[in-house]
Amino acid sequence: MASTGFVVGFLVAVIAFSVLSIIPDSDPRIVRLQSRVNLLASELAGLFSRKNVAGTASQESIDTCEDSGKLFTVDSLKAYDGSRNSLGLHIAIMGKVFDVSKGTKHYGPGGGYSFFSGRDGSKAYISGDFSEEGLTPDVEGLTPQDMIGLEDWVKFFNNEYTYVGKLIGHFYDERGVPTPNLKAAQKSIEEGRRLKANDAEHKKQYPPCNSEWKQATGLRVWCSNKSGGISRDWIGVPRKLFNPSTNKQRCACIKESELHNPHLRLYDNCPLRSASCKGDT
Ligand code: HEM
Ligand SMILES: *[C@@H]1O[C@H](CO)[C@@H](O)[C@H](O)[C@H]1NC(C)=O
Repeated sequence: MASTGFVVGFLVAVIAFSVLSIIPDSDPRIVRLQSRVNLLASELAGLFSRKNVAGTASQESIDTCEDSGKLFTVDSLKAYDGSRNSLGLHIAIMGKVFDVSKGTKHYGPGGGYSFFSGRDGSKAYISGDFSEEGLTPDVEGLTPQDMIGLEDWVKFFNNEYTYVGKLIGHFYDERGVPTPNLKAAQKSIEEGRRLKANDAEHKKQYPPCNSEWKQATGLRVWCSNKSGGISRDWIGVPRKLFNPSTNKQRCACIKESELHNPHLRLYDNCPLRSASCKGDT
């Protein structure tokens, strides 16, 4: 089942990748492919399973240790790997332990994701590195955007499976109280949320251009009152917008009042106020 999933998903990923790579002037979208694939996987997976509302513990009740869950050690959790003499089938993510018995086809012996069972492999949910080394709860080095992806996985497990308790060690101490590691992770998630909101705001202010590529004329970029999927009562003119932190540029539609922005460059041979320009290749 997981292998069929892999084949189907692989095709989707390949197609998605080709589409992303032919979009000219695309921003760091390709860089984010991994987190998209991730989400895609969790969405796909969501399609295949029913909601489990009964087993849902709220994030707050978990983190303020008001939940009535059990405490596991790294060793006691190992006994929940779904193998013949095991005590059950659990996974942990960000120190939260879930009973995933209803997902035996994924996490049980022989399942496509059996390496997640009986342990906290938080980092691998984002990195996709399922080696012994990759399956670590240590999420240091993940970006705030990555951490949003990890949080999405925690939400996924909360929605789809039954929360049973906490894993003592990296994210919780022996009393189930959050460790500095968890606090750092949560800070990073908050930063990720802020960046995301910023991104959306920025996109509204500098909507992406329309673009098309033709053999004869090459790349053309132009603005319309709906380009970039952002409906507005102005059109703007195409400018190259540099992002100093990523050192990348994209085409943005710029309002008259914003044209002085120092991160903007003109397209070569494009009249100052033209709503359409020949793009760079
Ligand atoms: C970072 C990389 C990845 C991680 C951490 C990951 C993790 C997971 C997990 C945990 C599940 C089980 C969800 C559940 O409990 O219902 C799952 C299912 C699935 N994954 Fe992935 N996955 C990754 C990459 C991929 C890729 C690259 C593909 C496609 C090539 C893919 C395709 C699928 C599909 C189709 C399912 C549903 C399978 C089914 O219902 O039989 N995944 N994934
Ligand atoms: C956008 O332009 C179209 C015509 O090109 C017009 O019908 C529509 O009302 C405009 N939308 C806004 C929000 O100005």
